[in-house]
Amino acid sequence: MTLKSNARKTAAALLRPFGMELVRSARDLDDFLEPGKQRDAIFRRVAVVAGDWLQNQSIAPWHQNFDIEHEVREFFGDYLASPFRETSGGSRIGNLLWLDLLAKALAPDVMLDSGTFRGASAWALSRGNPSARVFSFDIDMSQLLLRVPGVDYVESDWTQQDVTGQNMLCYFDDHVDQCRRVREAAKRGVSIAVFDDDYDVSQFAPMAHGGFSLPKLSFCFDESLGDGEVIAWREAGRRYEWTVPKGELDAVRGLVGQYQRLPDISAPFGVDQMPYSIAVLKR
Ligand SMILES: C[S@@+](CC[C@H](N)C(=O)[O-])C[C@H]1O[C@@H](n2cnc3c(N)ncnc32)[C@H](O)[C@@H]1O
Repeated sequence: MTLKSNARKTAAALLRPFGMELVRSARDLDDFLEPGKQRDAIFRRVAVVAGDWLQNQSIAPWHQNFDIEHEVREFFGDYLASPFRETSGGSRIGNLLWLDLLAKALAPDVMLDSGTFRGASAWALSRGNPSARVFSFDIDMSQLLLRVPGVDYVESDWTQQDVTGQNMLCYFDDHVDQCRRVREAAKRGVSIAVFDDDYDVSQFAPMAHGGFSLPKLSFCFDESLGDGEVIAWREAGRRYEWTVPKGELDAVRGLVGQYQRLPDISAPFGVDQMPYSIAVLKR
């Protein structure tokens, strides 16, 4: 038995009583097809799905026509070279590619990224539309891996800064109650809000953060929820409850002109990720 495998066994035994296990750290796309026909087919499939949505959406005019398959291919190369391939915590290839495509196609003049973490979403938004002003907010900037030139990184909640623009897009990936984020965005004149982790009522438990992240925006559009209904779930061994505030959900729904789930472009890369939802806010 080698020294290495002994150390691994000891570490695993130490972690087990705390309900933790030792797993090999992996990065996105460490195991992937080499360049060739089959890999090209993946890029084509992703471009067809994304292109179909982008060309048919009625959220915003398509400002900039571009070759989507070429963009997918270029993005893939840049993502492989990026420092954002850790699979824990941050956004992964499919969703980051959506941020790049939305930023490029819808061309907002100001983009706000709430929840910087390692910096992946700010990088993808800025990559798609380098001429826009980009602000990236986090209450803890200590995990930031890459500062993209031209992006303003701000260590605070986004509501602490006065940002104005003609056509603002906000990306929320900060574990904060999404109805609160819609109210804040509507008040500040944001046109488009994109949400990560907008799980429906049957799936939200792993992303509830003890109820701090509730309600999800999807709850506002869920006709099955009744006022005062109590939803209970278990999270990390504890039981939690949340009571449906129907009036509040309806009020937030009234601020939203369009609400859609983006199609899944992660699966063709072999990545399992909840696709974003996108809301157009009434002006
Ligand atoms: C899932 S990570 C963000 C991942 C990142 N957007 C990406 O694409 O890789 C969530 C981040 O939200 C941050 N956060 C928590 N509360 C926040 C707040 N009120 N405003 C901004 N960021 C917040 C956390 O510190 C954490 O870094």
